[in-house]
Amino acid sequence: MWGFSFQRRFLHSSLCLMKKLKKNKTAAEQRWLQRQLKDPYVKASHKQNFRCRSAFKLLEIDDKFRLLQPGCSVVDCGAAPGAWSQVAVHRVNSAGTDPAAPPGTVVGIDLLHIPPLDGAHFLSCHDVTVSPTHAKLLELLPGGQAHVILSDMAPNASGFREMDHVKLITMCFSLLDLAEKILLPEGSLLCKYWDGILAHELQEKLSRVFNSVQTLKPNASRKDSAERYFLARIYKKPEQLS
Ligand SMILES: C[S@@+](CC[C@H](N)C(=O)[O-])C[C@H]1O[C@@H](n2cnc3c(N)ncnc32)[C@H](O)[C@@H]1O
Repeated sequence: MWGFSFQRRFLHSSLCLMKKLKKNKTAAEQRWLQRQLKDPYVKASHKQNFRCRSAFKLLEIDDKFRLLQPGCSVVDCGAAPGAWSQVAVHRVNSAGTDPAAPPGTVVGIDLLHIPPLDGAHFLSCHDVTVSPTHAKLLELLPGGQAHVILSDMAPNASGFREMDHVKLITMCFSLLDLAEKILLPEGSLLCKYWDGILAHELQEKLSRVFNSVQTLKPNASRKDSAERYFLARIYKKPEQLS
């Protein structure tokens, strides 16, 4: 049902894009629109009813590392419009579609509105980086704990690469506070960052509390973008570190 209305909306927006292309847009706008229309991941996301192309980044990472198992509790930070949550709902069985597998939990958070999705609980208009949101998460997660924290969060890009990098890395640091509150020992954290001078510092901080930290650049991530992901696995709760 949702997929059908989404398809209609996609077709509608594709037509709108075509019309916009014909009008006098700036060269940069035209390049962006052309790229969207040609992008195989945009086409595939439409075909497979994903809310956006980023679904393929998580699918690719999860196919390789198997983070999302049936029965797992997952927090999806920066979840709007909800493509990563769609992947997570399916893989952890939080909509209970596979009666033979244990049902998991998916909680998505975003500053923006996230359209409802069967199997996910969304905290729209919430900031992941602040304590009141963490308190709500503790209430929503079974036993107040998560097996996996996903973050595809990104601030609105200012166009100043260095400034945007620092902003996103600062948001990633706040995920370590969240992990301390909710992440189960041996849990995983997957977070997006934009490459730059502070990436190494983030990697070091993650390495102090996780046994393994890898840098990933999925095929679906545009080659010309500074986007990367850190996959941190096997969380050592701070009390286990002393
Ligand atoms: C690239 S989009 C995420 C796409 C999403 N993974 C999907 O598959 O649909 C990044 C999102 O991060 C959100 N965001 C940025 N800062 C945030 C914050 N402090 N708290 C919550 N969400 C945030 C933005 O509103 C935006 O929707």
